[in-house]
Amino acid sequence: MKTARPGPGNEPQKLLGPRAPVYRGFIATARPQRAVSGAMSLTFPPVAEGDLAGLIELLTSDRWPFHLDVEPTPASVEANLAHFQPSEAQAPHWIELADERIGLVVLRELDDPTPVFDLRLKATHRRRGLGRATLAWLARETFEAHGKHRLEGHTRADNRPMQRLFARTPGWVLEGCFRQTWRDREAGIWRDALAYGLLAEDWRRGSETPLSQPLAG
Ligand SMILES: CC(C)(COP(=O)(O)OP(=O)(O)OC[C@H]1O[C@@H](n2cnc3c(N)ncnc32)[C@H](O)[C@@H]1OP(=O)(O)O)[C@@H](O)C(=O)NCCC(=O)NCCS
Repeated sequence: MKTARPGPGNEPQKLLGPRAPVYRGFIATARPQRAVSGAMSLTFPPVAEGDLAGLIELLTSDRWPFHLDVEPTPASVEANLAHFQPSEAQAPHWIELADERIGLVVLRELDDPTPVFDLRLKATHRRRGLGRATLAWLARETFEAHGKHRLEGHTRADNRPMQRLFARTPGWVLEGCFRQTWRDREAGIWRDALAYGLLAEDWRRGSETPLSQPLAG
């Protein structure tokens, strides 16, 4: 694992060191109409290995309609613990706003030049610009801390908020659609999935490399 792990007495900001971005007033500056009042600090401390209690607390505290496990239980979190545990190939981080744990972001496939991420914010903290701030942190973490070539994100085709977030974040390009690949257990149907990508080169230059070929054949 390439990111620091927490230990006794380690505070998140000390842990992450210079690459721990603290977004103070980030939202208030960018989008005054949805400002989070007061000084706001968003941090991304690593999830400690074996922190089953922390994962159960966060994941069972809400519904996750666009994830396979929509209403996690302690038993299902424990059964899926491997998805949230730090390892050589995976770096899970809490999303904390002013010391309140409000979400979870997991960088996966870090043994590959193209990692992929999973992101979830508690419902009470959605639509406040925190997804945008988390994507900004993810890009820095992927390209600067891990030195990767590109970052991928996959989302269900009916997840409008996530699509909107990608569409509104410079550099992210819709690269593909996988038909009926994602089982929507609530609706009992298969959904398409959309694949988005961000190139390290585009992130550094502030550019957006288009697809070399149009998707329509
Ligand atoms: C998807 C998610 C990460 C987006 O983060 P967020 O903090 O709510 O999004 P932001 O506030 O940063 O908004 C980003 C853009 O998306 C838009 N948006 C966000 N939620 C929206 C919604 N429910 N409907 C329409 N647009 C929405 C915002 O208006 C904003 O666009 P704008 O700049 O044009 O106003 C968050 O809603 C979430 O965690 N959802 C549950 C888990 C999930 O679906 N994760 C993705 C799995 S692939």
